[in-house]
Amino acid sequence: MAPKAVDSILDVIGNTPLVKLQKLVPPKSADIFVKPEYLNPSGSYKDRIALEMIRTAEAEGKLKPGYTIVEASTGNTGTALSFVGTRLGYNVEIYMPEGMTRERIKIMESYGAKVFEMKIEGLDAKGSVAGAEVEFIPRKKCLDLERSNPKVWWARQFCNPANWRAHIVTGNEILEQMNGKVDAFIASIGVGGTLYGCAKALKAKLPKCRVIGLEPASARYAISDGITSPPGVSKDISGGIIEEMMESGLIDEVVKVTNEDAIKTSDRLVKEEGLFCGISSGANVYHSLKVAETLGKGKRVATVLPDHRDRYLSEKKYTT
Ligand SMILES: Cc1ncc(COP(=O)(O)O)c(C=O)c1O
Repeated sequence: MAPKAVDSILDVIGNTPLVKLQKLVPPKSADIFVKPEYLNPSGSYKDRIALEMIRTAEAEGKLKPGYTIVEASTGNTGTALSFVGTRLGYNVEIYMPEGMTRERIKIMESYGAKVFEMKIEGLDAKGSVAGAEVEFIPRKKCLDLERSNPKVWWARQFCNPANWRAHIVTGNEILEQMNGKVDAFIASIGVGGTLYGCAKALKAKLPKCRVIGLEPASARYAISDGITSPPGVSKDISGGIIEEMMESGLIDEVVKVTNEDAIKTSDRLVKEEGLFCGISSGANVYHSLKVAETLGKGKRVATVLPDHRDRYLSEKKYTT
């Protein structure tokens, strides 16, 4: 049955399908189900949080007509806020670490946002999947803008509870789509909203479901090394959801994945499964394959494919 007609493109955010991997999973392993979140309108699951954060801020009177939405982002939250924010009539300014692909900037600008690239000393953000730490300098900029202009609203995805709340819905969709049978859930961590929200939904119904977070092996401040709020970095721009998530006891394990393994697996997802996803999707499936092997046949692993490959295409590794 075709989906019903909707009034606005914003109405098609979320409710993504769930797909069982056909080729990558060895016969003796557990089944792996992936949620292609790149099917959201702006190409990532950040559409979910952009809408929830904006609607909450409006309801709380923090965001009003004529205001400017600002955010620090390496791409997807910036893109989602550009899409949702401009649809709802706001100005949108995105502060990005320098070195991200041109496509990301062009996508945001296409929606009508202004994009500002910021130099990040001592860090080569180019082509990497380094965690939230690349956003510290852009976050400081957003904080300054918010403090100096009452008509600026900073979305603050790293500590905004509307972020993880949006992903309780993602987790509940997974539960429904898998008929309540999920043995493990795996998701990469940026600011932690996806893992925390999904963990809340899954553990509420399935306390034994194993919830595993992933972080880039290249991260300087690693959660798996016990760092949830980096030393010397102000609480105004760090910690937030990650700290709360790790203190919640809902996360069973956090594991490091290398860029190389993530990229290789994302290439396989495109070539062997037809899933046109980005790097963190590769990380999620790389570790899901390990967990599926350990759990064995008859068990079920779920994960997400956070974003679309369109925003990485100019990176050389994708064209060879
Ligand atoms: C491609 C991609 N994967 C994974 C993540 C991690 O998601 P979260 O910030 O909800 O932890 C993000 C967000 O930064 C992302 O853009």
